[in-house]
Amino acid sequence: MPKTIPVPTLSPFAAEVIEGLSEQPKRLSSKWFYDERGDALFQAIMAMPEYYLTDCEREIFQRSGPALLSIIAGRPFDLIELGAGDGSKTQHLIEQFLAAGARFVYRPIDISANAIDLLGDLIHHRWPLLPFEPIQADYFTALNRLGQSKTDHLRLVLFPGANIGNFNRAEAEKFLRHLRSFLRPGDLLLTGFDLKKDPATILAAYNDPAGHTAAFNLNLLARINRELGADFQLSAWKHWETYDPAGGAARSFLVADGPQTVHLPDLDHSITFEAYEAICVEISQKYSREEIRALAAAAGYTFVQNLEDSRGWFADSVWRVS
Ligand SMILES: C[S@@+](CC[C@H](N)C(=O)[O-])C[C@H]1O[C@@H](n2cnc3c(N)ncnc32)[C@H](O)[C@@H]1O
Repeated sequence: MPKTIPVPTLSPFAAEVIEGLSEQPKRLSSKWFYDERGDALFQAIMAMPEYYLTDCEREIFQRSGPALLSIIAGRPFDLIELGAGDGSKTQHLIEQFLAAGARFVYRPIDISANAIDLLGDLIHHRWPLLPFEPIQADYFTALNRLGQSKTDHLRLVLFPGANIGNFNRAEAEKFLRHLRSFLRPGDLLLTGFDLKKDPATILAAYNDPAGHTAAFNLNLLARINRELGADFQLSAWKHWETYDPAGGAARSFLVADGPQTVHLPDLDHSITFEAYEAICVEISQKYSREEIRALAAAAGYTFVQNLEDSRGWFADSVWRVS
């Protein structure tokens, strides 16, 4: 009988790194930014003055509790949050929901185990009696699990932080359609969209002088070194940001400052880079108000309303599943 050679099973992280770095042009998914160090670096980004997105959405959340509760109209609900992170903005909604006597279960989803642990500590400390059922998984795995749960609660799904912008337009529509297939008529979706604005304001948010964004992006290569045994020389890579005001996409690249070969001995793999070859590590798509309405319709939702900050820079758009 012929001997079968066992094929090593790659972790999802390893498989995606090898796949993305084998493509032309090379790319890595921004969802892998968030290990313990990445979470801490992202908190530093949220605190910097140039990263207006967090302040805009915090302002919206601080006053949107009543508007959301009036749409929910007294029904018990599941508050499902996709990519919850540290939950710092969502706390404002939770506070208003509890003060109004709303009945809900908080179900945050995040791929980062560290983020879920920190969020759990915060919720247990602040609201020990709040029903809290976190899921540490990627969006699709978590949605699959939620699809199997038997609750008849209305669902209010939060997808804040302009995370939708990490998909291109076609991927966003596909993702939102897929999400809809797990929801029931009457369920609500609130999605955070960064609105098109002065290109200089957008570029500065991803190109800060203190270098927080560069450190955050370079941490992805450091994570590949730490977890997959690679030998990226971080000093040989440069953060480069672009914003295309016509298409509305900000893109983050890491650019090699010379030819190099990176080894992943644990995976029996190596990758060569030419001088100035770039890895695209993040896309942050910006939207106009018309594009938001068009996306709602294309993905099969009914547009309800946009909740905007006072500068009109950011919109949390509320849609209903009909
Ligand atoms: C930009 S942060 C936003 C955090 C928070 N929602 C906010 O608005 O401040 C993105 C969060 O989404 C999580 N995330 C990114 N891609 C994910 C995916 N595919 N599945 C699950 N979580 C994901 C990350 O771990 C991170 O905590």
